[in-house]
Amino acid sequence: MEHLYKEMVPALLHWYDYNARILPWRSEPTPYRVWISEIMLQQTRVEAVKPYYDRFMEALPDVKALSEVDDDKLMKLWEGLGYYNRARNLKAAAQTVMEEYEGVIPDVYEELLKLKGIGEYTAGAVASIACKRAVPAVDGNVLRVVARLLANGDDVLKASTKKWMTQEIMNIIPKDRPGDFNQALMELGATICLPNGAPKCEDCPWDTVCMAHKTGTELKFPYKQPKKARKIEEKEVYLMEWNGRYALRKRPKKGLLSGLWEFPTRSCGQHLDSVDNILQKTVELSENVDKIGTGKHIFSHIEWHMTGYHILLQNKIEDDNFVWVTKEELEEAYAVPAAFAFMKDYLFVKAD
Ligand code: ADE
Repeated sequence: MEHLYKEMVPALLHWYDYNARILPWRSEPTPYRVWISEIMLQQTRVEAVKPYYDRFMEALPDVKALSEVDDDKLMKLWEGLGYYNRARNLKAAAQTVMEEYEGVIPDVYEELLKLKGIGEYTAGAVASIACKRAVPAVDGNVLRVVARLLANGDDVLKASTKKWMTQEIMNIIPKDRPGDFNQALMELGATICLPNGAPKCEDCPWDTVCMAHKTGTELKFPYKQPKKARKIEEKEVYLMEWNGRYALRKRPKKGLLSGLWEFPTRSCGQHLDSVDNILQKTVELSENVDKIGTGKHIFSHIEWHMTGYHILLQNKIEDDNFVWVTKEELEEAYAVPAAFAFMKDYLFVKAD
């Protein structure tokens, strides 16, 4: 088998009919609900997304609500999911839908693709699942399934590989159930054709047609060219306490975690800017400095290796970049990204 063929489709749909997970966005697949779910699922596992999804839908039940949401509230709803630009793009796209599409999410692939944050995958997912259009939605799960089915060793991270695999799927996508078909492929990848060892081939509806399974080479596929090592940044993070309040500051408008709140943080061994200078002097002059612990956070190209300190201040630092908040305010109104979870753990669990 060098190509996918239409006769394979019924076995997959039959399997999906009996094995599809019950997920909140599947019960009522409107374009809005599917769009939000697919964006959340882009970098995050299904189980992790579920509680966020329900909360998000309750707070922002439609495009209009999303287009008007206050930025801080939006960040708070997204807090912990990571890749915060996804949320900013959602709001920008919702505004475009309100202004240019009379508040109705377009129901064709090409128009969806024009919206901010919607790429080929998401446009395909929304168009097929919510609008019944026969277009593919190819994510990492689908690439893995196809690479194994065809025992194909092309690099799945290359655009050319994705392009021909997408064409293969286009050739067999059923017009009557495109959304179920796309989701079945993803579901197969997520629950049966597992990455990193141990695919459950004994439960697979395609075990008899899979070239990799036939030759016992499941683990050789998909091939990915090894990535370059991430850059490591050493940082110090400060829990500065003054009069029962804690210092937060907003991160710069550009770059990693832009515009979100952080505990004051200083990169070690780098050129110090003026804010870093104040921090460094404060730390040097403080008598009450306790090491809290260490944390590590992995972004796509960088790793932060952090050491946290609790500093009890006698005098407040006067700096416009800082806000001084109580624990309750921090919990309720400030989106502090998951990279700083070890600091929050200390504050909310150990410092009590
Ligand atoms: N992963 C991302 N979107 C999905 C979907 N609609 N079904 C299954 N897995 C997914």
